[in-house]
Parts: sequence; C-alpha cells; structure tokens
Amino acid sequence: MIRIDFSNLMQGAIGKNGLTDDDFKSIDTKKITEIIKTRKYPELEFLDLHNADTSKIKELGKYAGRFENFLLLGIGGSALGPRSILEALSPFHNFKNKPRVFIYDNVDPLTLKNMLEVIDLKKTVVNVITKSGSTAETIASFMIIWKKLQEQSLKIQEHIIVTTDPEKGNLRKIVKDYSLMSLPIPQGVGGRYSVLSAVGLLLAEAIGISSDTLLNGAKDIHDKCMNTDLWQNPAYLFSSGLYLMQKIKSKNITVMIPYADRLKPFSEWFCQLWAESLGKDGKGLTPYPSVGTTDQHSQLQLWMQGPEDKVVVFLSIEDYGVDVNIPEIFLDMEGLSYLSGHSLGELIRIEQEASEIALAKNGRPCITIKIPKIDAYYLGQLFHFFEIATAVAGFLYDINPFNQPGVEEGKNLTYAMMGKKGYEAKREEFIEYRQR
Ligand code: PA5
Repeated sequence: MIRIDFSNLMQGAIGKNGLTDDDFKSIDTKKITEIIKTRKYPELEFLDLHNADTSKIKELGKYAGRFENFLLLGIGGSALGPRSILEALSPFHNFKNKPRVFIYDNVDPLTLKNMLEVIDLKKTVVNVITKSGSTAETIASFMIIWKKLQEQSLKIQEHIIVTTDPEKGNLRKIVKDYSLMSLPIPQGVGGRYSVLSAVGLLLAEAIGISSDTLLNGAKDIHDKCMNTDLWQNPAYLFSSGLYLMQKIKSKNITVMIPYADRLKPFSEWFCQLWAESLGKDGKGLTPYPSVGTTDQHSQLQLWMQGPEDKVVVFLSIEDYGVDVNIPEIFLDMEGLSYLSGHSLGELIRIEQEASEIALAKNGRPCITIKIPKIDAYYLGQLFHFFEIATAVAGFLYDINPFNQPGVEEGKNLTYAMMGKKGYEAKREEFIEYRQR
C-alpha cells in the first residue's frame, strides 16, 4: 500500500512553521463523510469506477492493440490521465512497442503536421475522447482526421473508437449515426476524475497493461480513504494538512515532485486535478509540477530560501525494479571515487531523503508519499488516492471540486469567435475587450 508520511508538516519536525495536533481539531470530518456518503455531488461517481465492468474496454483494447499506431485525440482530463499511464508503465514505449502511441492534446498545427508525417493512417486506430462531445480542440482535430481518413478511402468504422458520454453530446450522436465503435464515460464522472474509466483504460489495454490491475490498486486503497477517522485516512490527512497549511501558515503553493522520470506526466495530471478542482471563489492551492532529482538543480533553491509559501509533496519510490551500479573506477580521485560501489537507485533515494531533511531542517514543510514500486497496481492506488484527496480538499474549502466555470467561460468565448450559433452576445463582448 502507498503510505503517507506527514511528519514534516508538524511542529515536532519543523518547529514553529509546523502544525499541531490541535490544529487538526478544526477539520470537520463528519461533514466530509456525510457529503461522500450521501453522494451530495453526482460526480462522486468516480468513487465507483474500480467496480466497473471492463469487458468491452478489454475487447476494444485488443482490437486497438493490433494496429501499428494508436492516435489519441483529447485534452485536459481526456488526455493527461492516459499520458500518465503510458509514461509511467511503458516508458520509451514507441521505441520498442506496438502500437506506437501519439497523444494530440493541443491544436498546435505544427505538431499535427509533424505527427501525420510519421503516422500512416491506414495502420492507425484513432481514439477520440471527449466527455462533453463539444470541446473545440478535440472536435477540430477529430474533424481533420475524419476528413483525412475519407480522403484515403479508409473505412471510418474500422479506424475510430469514440470515448464519450453514454447518451448525450455531438460525439454520441455521430457514434449512432455512423455506427462507430465507442466506450462510455459514466455520466457522473468528470474529465479530470476519469482516468480509471475507458478514458485511461482503453489505451492501457491496447498497450498490454491490465486495466484490472489498475482498478485493483484503486479498490485496495478505497476503504482506507473512506475511513471516517482523520488519523487513519490518508486522503483526509493529505487534504487537511495542505488546507491547514494554507489557512494557518499561508502556504499557497503545492509542489508535486515524484522522484522518477516515469511519473513526470503524473505530476502534470495531479496539477490539473488540484488546480481545476480547487481554484474557485478566490480559494484554492496553486500546484506546481516538478521531478526529482532533476529539479533539485533548478527549483530547490527557491523552495529552500525563497518565499515561505510552499508545501513540497515528495513521491518517494522504494523499489525502482532495476538498479545500475556505479563502477569502481577513478579510485585515486576523491571527487569521483566516493560514488564507486554505490548504485543509481541508492543515489536517487538518498537525494530524495536529503532534500526532504534539508527542507525540514530549514522549517519548510513537506509531505512524503512512499510508493513501493511503479506498476499498474500502485499507479491505480495513486490515481484513486489523489482524486479522493482532491475532492475532500474541495469540501474543506466549501467549493464544488467538480465544476470548472472559469474554463467554461474561455470555451464560450472561443465558440463565439469561431462563429458558433447562440454565442453572438459573447462575440460582442470579446470584440469589446479586445479593443480596450
Ligand atoms: O476536468 C475537466 O472536466 C476538463 O479538464 C475536461 O477534461 C477538458 O476540458 C476536456 O473536456 P471534454 O472531455 O469534455 O472534451
């Protein structure tokens, strides 16, 4: 099981900058538990994803796995989760495995051009993911790819798998009209909470990662995160610790630093979840993605001696699955030879701990999440743990962690300027602001 060590948030370890047990008394766990139990928000449906039937995902995953290329079109919650799964569980995937995976999660025309130069659409399965079925970026790239498939006289029904709302939206309509292959994103599951649905699991299956193992990880941590006792519930502790650190100690920034290259996209996935869920009504915590040890040489100075506004969250990997020994050479050079006889695994673990201790000694708070190893099972735990912790943080802030009104406004202004019907007033507004 992943474990949370929050001792470096407490006064015992970091002195006056830390929290006390008494500070946690203000956390109303009854209220949180009630919100979860009564499913006050329908979007809490993400809590049940680990019990879902995965047979159709597996069937389509097997189908998609036979292609040379898997092209994913999606953005935000519809892309960051799949990318985290790919990078964490199959690093350097495209150099050694089929299908090669391409994730187009922007509308940068140059990226699309470059991608299409190396992808043969005849040998490509396209997974378009959009819960709403209306996100401009995804729809635009979908339309482009659709047209290209037609131009090459390829059978659309063989090349496109749509992942979208089970009933509503433009894409669901297209699925019905053209009899396309499709997978549902359960109605109550919002984009950034959807990685453990078909959104992430189809890609997982297509590249040979067991969706069941990811879900088993989530299942096994679920009960722990539902414990009503704050001190026994890692998700409650994580969110309460960061919430109190902001409320009492003005720590407004959450740094996420996994000590593994493979978890870099995971760190970005977390940042979207944390930012988009909590940043509303003038509240929230600013997330900041990072990776160790690399960022020790670019960011750590700021965390150590810069503004005292951060809590650093370390993801510490206990077993990297492999190790590389540092050879016994240059033995007469003290500047190099001290490394001989050690290993890279030892070095990265020591550096993580050293950074943690250095920060704590300096009165800078941090949390460490210990991960036994990076595999599908523990990644499933991490996804589920952080999703629950984020929702709980939202309840502590008394905001709805599942909507994104700020994002919607940007989307609406874009629709208006791209000429979508019904957005004429927004268009006027846009033009007026542009001229100010
Ligand atoms: O978390 C969210 O809801 C968003 O980040 C969405 O995932 C993102 O805006 C894409 O939306 P959709 O899947 O509807 O295209």
